[in-house]
This record gives sequence, structure tokens and C-alpha cells, in this order.
Amino acid sequence: YNQFHQRSLLAEKDFTGAEFYTLIKFAEHLKDLKAHNIEHHYLTGKNVALLFAKTSTRTRSAFTVAATDLGAHPEFLGAHDIQLGNKESLADTAKVLGSMYDGIEYRGFAQSTVAALAQYSGIPVWNGLTDDWHPTQMLADFMTIDELCGHVKGITLTYLGDARNNVANSLLVTAAMLGANIHLVGPQALQPAAHVQTIAQQFAAQSGSDILITDDLVTGLAGSDVLYTDVWASMGEEDAWAQRIKLLQPYQLNMDAVTATHNPNVIVLHDLPAFHDLNTTMGQQIHEEFGLDELEITDEVFNAPFAHQFQQAANRLHTIKAVMAATLGNPFIPTVIEPQ
Ligand code: CP
Ligand code: NVA
Repeated sequence: YNQFHQRSLLAEKDFTGAEFYTLIKFAEHLKDLKAHNIEHHYLTGKNVALLFAKTSTRTRSAFTVAATDLGAHPEFLGAHDIQLGNKESLADTAKVLGSMYDGIEYRGFAQSTVAALAQYSGIPVWNGLTDDWHPTQMLADFMTIDELCGHVKGITLTYLGDARNNVANSLLVTAAMLGANIHLVGPQALQPAAHVQTIAQQFAAQSGSDILITDDLVTGLAGSDVLYTDVWASMGEEDAWAQRIKLLQPYQLNMDAVTATHNPNVIVLHDLPAFHDLNTTMGQQIHEEFGLDELEITDEVFNAPFAHQFQQAANRLHTIKAVMAATLGNPFIPTVIEPQ
């Protein structure tokens, strides 16, 4: 077996930068196999449980299709389908799932839930987003950067907006692990917690990554290679919209921000879903209440040729496939390579 065998991915820091980059390179290989219709049934006979306490389009679809492509069976267990935390303790549910399945994906609220699932199930658990981290998203994000820029080490990524949410935390730590420079630009009230910054600083000291956490757009944007933003109120924070809009409007990813990078080759990413226009049910409510037409990213930037969020979303499939194949024992994974 490979060195990933039977390991969980609860947060980025569970892996080294080299292991993370190896999974990205393995995902690029799996993407190539899929493009050429070459079968890759590394997980024939395995069963994986997909637990979702929050909604999802990309993560659920990526896990479902990835498992199927690998020859495994995915079973979706939604918030209202199972006893977890309602009629039955987390530990008891985890023990039962661990006796039947080979791996568990969990999306939900507290990080302690995903950690307890791993502890009591005894099988690999993959974090499909918690309030604190979104590690599988990071593999797709840095794979997309690797494809578009040719490397990840030494690039500068600037994240604008709610710099205290799961995606911002994860970008900070992942960039530091991979030797990419990371700027988090947002108001002081929405900057990462001290313990998150400490984890990132420890990795950065090893990798040579530069970290900048600031409320200043000019220094945050200058020289950036990748601009990234995320929703201003995450799942579970729906009561915060008024406060967030007030705090975050200056940090919108618009053409002014793109220009302020002074980089003609800058690219834009967004983990999605995005409020680039408000032609959705929730978007309409926000439009009526606050009189805005676009939130964290303008429609103009979202539709620009340098915006690559749909390539990024598609890469969720290949990267999640890499994680499942590696941790459930595919022996063909390449040897670990240092980030480049
Ligand atoms: N980016 C992401 O995780 O999307 P979903 O919420 O649709 O899974
Ligand atoms: N920060 C967002 C990410 C969605 C993929 C949320 O948690 O809702």
C-alpha cells in the first residue's frame, strides 16, 4: 500500500505539502484517464457513505461520480435521512458506519463532528466542508492553479472578502504548505483566528511562503497572480447578511481589483456558488432588502476570459477521486513529490 492508505483528510494539516502536491499530480493523471475513457476501477467492491448536514452541488456530485468512476458504490445520507446526532450519538453512528462502509465523506458544521466520525468509525473520513475548513476544495483550487500557471510554488494568491471563513482558513494553510504566497484582504473583524494563523506560519517557515493579512486593498492586490473570493455569508450564517454587506462591500472582486494587481496575466477563481448576479431565490431576497445587483464578485469579472471557476469546479471530481483512491489503498499512486 501507499503512504496515504487508511488516512483521513479532516483538515489540510493532516498532510504535508509534498503529500498534498502528490494528490494534485495524481488528480491530473486521473483527469487524463477520464478524458481518454480509460477505466480506473481502483476501488472495485468498496462502499462509501456521503453524509451531508448542509446542502451541496459540487461536493456531492464530485464524490458520487468519483466513487462510481473508481468502481465503488456511493450512498448519500442527507441531514434528514439518518439518526446522527438526533436519535443516536455520533459515536454509535460512526461505529455502525465503520462496520459497513470503507470510507465516509462528511459535510456539516462543527469540526469536532468530522473528527469524532474518524475516531469512532476507524475508517478514512474526508471533510467535505465544515465551519472551519474545506480541504477537498483546496486540492481542486491548487490543481487549477497548477494547470493554468504551470506550477504552484511561488505564485501569489489574493483572497478578498470574508477572510475568517472555512475557505479563507483553508487557502491560508494550503498556500503555506505548498510554498505559494497568500494575501488575505478583508476588514479586521473578518480576519483569520490566531490559531489558524499559527498553523499557517509554521508551514510557511518551512516552505518559504509569504503571508500577508491586511485590510489594505492596494498592498494586498499588487503583484497578485490569482484573485479569489467566496460568499460573504457562509452556510449557517444567513442572519449575518446585513452586517457582512456593510463590512465587505469595499472588498468586492470587481474590475478595479483586477486592475490593481498590475498583472496582465492575472486569473480569477471562486469556489462557487457565487452571487455574481442575483437571479436566484436567495439573490432576489438580498436584492430586495439591500438594493444590490451583485455581491462578492461582479458579473463582469465572473464572465471575463481570465475567470476559471468552472474549470476549478470540474477539478473537484478529479481531486476527490485522487483522495479516495489514495486513502482506500490504490497502490499505483506516484511516489511523493515536492511542490513545484
Ligand atoms: N464549492 C463547493 O463546495 O460547492 P458545493 O457547496 O456546491 O458543494
Ligand atoms: N464559505 C462557503 C463555501 C461554500 C462552498 C460556505 O461555507 O457556505
